[in-house]
Amino acid sequence: MAGAIIKLRFTLGVPEFMHILAIALGGCLRAPPVRYGITEDTGGHIAYILGAMAALARDPRVTRADIVTRLFDDPALGNVHAQPREAISAKSEIIRIDSGNRHYLAKEDLARDRAAFTRALIEFLRASDRRPDIIHAHLADAADVARQVRNELGIPFIYTAHSLAHDKAAMMQNSPALAARLKEEDRAIAAADAIIASSRDECERQLPAYPSARFDRIHRLRPGVDVADVRRSDLIRARRLVEPFLRQPSRPMILAIARPVHKKNLVRLVEAFGSSRELSARANLVILPGLRAGVKRGEAEHREVLIDLVDAIDRHDLHGVAAWPSRHDSRQVAAMYELARRSRGVFVNPALTEPYGLTLIEAASHGLPVVATRNGGPSDIVAELEHGLLINPLDPEGMQRAMLRMLDDEVLWQRCSRNALVNIGGMNWRDYANGFLSIAQEIASADRTGTTMRPQRMLISDIDNTLTGCRKGARRLSAFLTRKRASVGFGVATGRSFVEARRLLREWDMPVPDVLIASVGSEIYWRTGRGFRLDEDYAAALAKGWNPDAVLAAMDDFPGLVGQAPIEQRRFKCSFLADGPDVLNRVRDRLASRGIAAKAILSHDRLLDILPVRAGKHAAVAHVAAVLELPCDRIVAAGDSGNDVDMLAASSQAVLVANFHEEVRGMAGLTHVYTARRSHAAGVLEGLLWHQRRSRTKEAAYVAA
Ligand code: GLC
Ligand code: MG
Repeated sequence: MAGAIIKLRFTLGVPEFMHILAIALGGCLRAPPVRYGITEDTGGHIAYILGAMAALARDPRVTRADIVTRLFDDPALGNVHAQPREAISAKSEIIRIDSGNRHYLAKEDLARDRAAFTRALIEFLRASDRRPDIIHAHLADAADVARQVRNELGIPFIYTAHSLAHDKAAMMQNSPALAARLKEEDRAIAAADAIIASSRDECERQLPAYPSARFDRIHRLRPGVDVADVRRSDLIRARRLVEPFLRQPSRPMILAIARPVHKKNLVRLVEAFGSSRELSARANLVILPGLRAGVKRGEAEHREVLIDLVDAIDRHDLHGVAAWPSRHDSRQVAAMYELARRSRGVFVNPALTEPYGLTLIEAASHGLPVVATRNGGPSDIVAELEHGLLINPLDPEGMQRAMLRMLDDEVLWQRCSRNALVNIGGMNWRDYANGFLSIAQEIASADRTGTTMRPQRMLISDIDNTLTGCRKGARRLSAFLTRKRASVGFGVATGRSFVEARRLLREWDMPVPDVLIASVGSEIYWRTGRGFRLDEDYAAALAKGWNPDAVLAAMDDFPGLVGQAPIEQRRFKCSFLADGPDVLNRVRDRLASRGIAAKAILSHDRLLDILPVRAGKHAAVAHVAAVLELPCDRIVAAGDSGNDVDMLAASSQAVLVANFHEEVRGMAGLTHVYTARRSHAAGVLEGLLWHQRRSRTKEAAYVAA
């Protein structure tokens, strides 16, 4: 047994057993139960750290998963924070570093303590007998500490920002404090060996907006969701919170949970609710605007928003139909989602912009449909979980319409509720730990020099439903590719973005590809020693004659077509949702009649992409072949649906997996296309081997002749 483990360790050539250290400076970080909200900085990032480290500690490949934070002595916040060590589990503990300053420090004051803290931490690490293999820094101040630790001790680090200031800066007038925070975040982004964020919006819009961001260091890893089991007693206590406010507590509940700050836009929600006769006659509005001890206490912004809230409730005379309880605990909050679902209600997040949108995930975990702002993280959370509708937070009428639709359309409500419960299953801490470890190992084994790949043959495969779909097949294909790495190159060609493609490959334990064709063959990324490089030549070729504004103008108000989420729109890819397959020909006619040079591709009967004429999966594969000087008959292309058609049709060795979509049935009869008996990755492997055998026979026949 021990022999087997040691062998594994050496064959992979990377540390298989990981010692991980998380660093977080602020808040009252302790082993559960945590008193969330006890100070302003004791919030979501602590739940994230504890969830992540607990899952990592459960993983057999992890030797230790420890957390470092500040030691402080403040009995009002709990004596435990003065304890240098607090065990969480057998493989995990909280280590509290004494910087010399034993006061609790809020966010604004932490910076002054940082140098002393860093010195003390480095001293601690020098003295310990086993140093961590990787550090995970939470928030930009911890990243600064981690950077200094790396300089001294050579330990690489991963940075998670949790809530970036980028959008704040766009919304509010720039204060010096905000400018300093943006700079600090940029420094963290520049220094980190990898950055992990939860949503596509963070990975593909917010982080890349920082001057020092490098796209190939950004990874999306979805945190787990702990589904709180709601007890009967919690439900009763939650009901008691709202009953004093409501005439008919059993009406459908429109629920909002957010701190009383302007950007959460709660007042506009009250206005929208109050000015709709229909809504206020049929539903109750329940808002949990943080904790308060009266509207005259607390921070200035909180006071302002709370007063506006009461004012709006008064003006619209919402007494009896609107509740805004002042105190609640986390069990009551969980129970409130549950009550809202039981009442056939809806959760609303009307924020002007939301970096991530944890409440939408929480609502999903209770099967509660949502109406959410389209700005920021929510648009991709809702696209992924398919559990609600998006709104423009500045448009109260749109907000009203969306809420009413959720209440009226029983089929929609049921579908959203079911989707929420099913899709949330993909967000769990076990998968998170898996993903974290593969990112950490990629960094730890990053000494690979940028050797140019010279494969003799190459597999280029679609991802969704071709590589993914069956775990067993994926494992077999992955093992084959790893074994044959030296001779068989591996590439993917997908409709997904670069970040999403990498996430899926990681989730399916596929090898890191040598070349990654993303966004329906409109972007090509080459693997370099450490990361990836965008193929600029290909981009330059596509840019010629491409005019996305003309495409968007031509498709504006096109019947049966709506735009996909903003995050899906790429430099060379305009994407839409079509209400049926016959839209395709009408779109092509429209493009032709306007003299627009572009190609339209339909997948799964409803995903419609418009690309430059020179783009597409086949064009990208041909470009890759030319760069590698690889004859086309040395490339095997595999796919399953509409956006694979040009690639399968044009490559001389194609594989159609058995689970192919109806829209590509025509391909199955072609002589160069091998239709696998197996589905998904197992079908890809079957086809790859079939083509290999056939070309060997052909070569043998040629030699014999
Ligand atoms: C992926 C992309 C989407 C595209 C589809 C079909 O799902 O995310 O934008 O329309 O592939 O190519
Ligand atoms: Mg596919």
